[in-house]
Amino acid sequence: MTRDLTSRGHEVTAIDASPTMTRYADDHGAYVVADAASLPFPAASFDLAIAHNSLMDVDDMPAAVAETARVLQRGGRLCVCITHPINDAGAFSAREAGAPFIISGQYLEPRTLDETLSRAGLEMRFHSKGYPLEDYSCAFEAAGMVIENLREPAADAGAVARDPSEHRWQRLPMFLQLRLLKQ
Ligand SMILES: C[S@@+](CC[C@H](N)C(=O)[O-])C[C@H]1O[C@@H](n2cnc3c(N)ncnc32)[C@H](O)[C@@H]1O
Repeated sequence: MTRDLTSRGHEVTAIDASPTMTRYADDHGAYVVADAASLPFPAASFDLAIAHNSLMDVDDMPAAVAETARVLQRGGRLCVCITHPINDAGAFSAREAGAPFIISGQYLEPRTLDETLSRAGLEMRFHSKGYPLEDYSCAFEAAGMVIENLREPAADAGAVARDPSEHRWQRLPMFLQLRLLKQ
């Protein structure tokens, strides 16, 4: 995301709490190691903020949203991509295109997620939170942010052509994308 925005002419400052992630990502000095809930920037420093696949991973989502709003100028925008709250609440019972999606617990209360996934021989452990949509909306409201638009993108046709089981992500959104305005 940082490289893409830089290549489009934006002047970008990027943060992540993980020194390892920033070390591997940083090839042009744009990264700062920081906690999203305590940003080392003055108020109203930025005209645009992007939280890309991160708000469900931070320890304190409402605090991260409030901090992001603090460093944004009035009239600035926040673009968010998160794992869709419905996706976090359950799982497909199998990889097949028509597999049922099962919510075996509940949706309305925040949940702590801890899962280990393997891809191409690499094992990764993910700690994250599952929040209902209302919790995100309340965090934005409390921070003075108004939702301008909301998208639930389906898996694209190319992904399904390469792997037909990806069709299940045309039945249910994997991600939720929002654009917000700081009033
Ligand atoms: C799913 S990864 C996404 C990384 C990157 N934003 C991207 O889209 O490729 C989630 C990231 O959130 C970071 N993270 C977790 N808690 C954080 C916090 N409190 N402040 C800043 N970053 C945090 C993790 O270190 C991890 O790199």
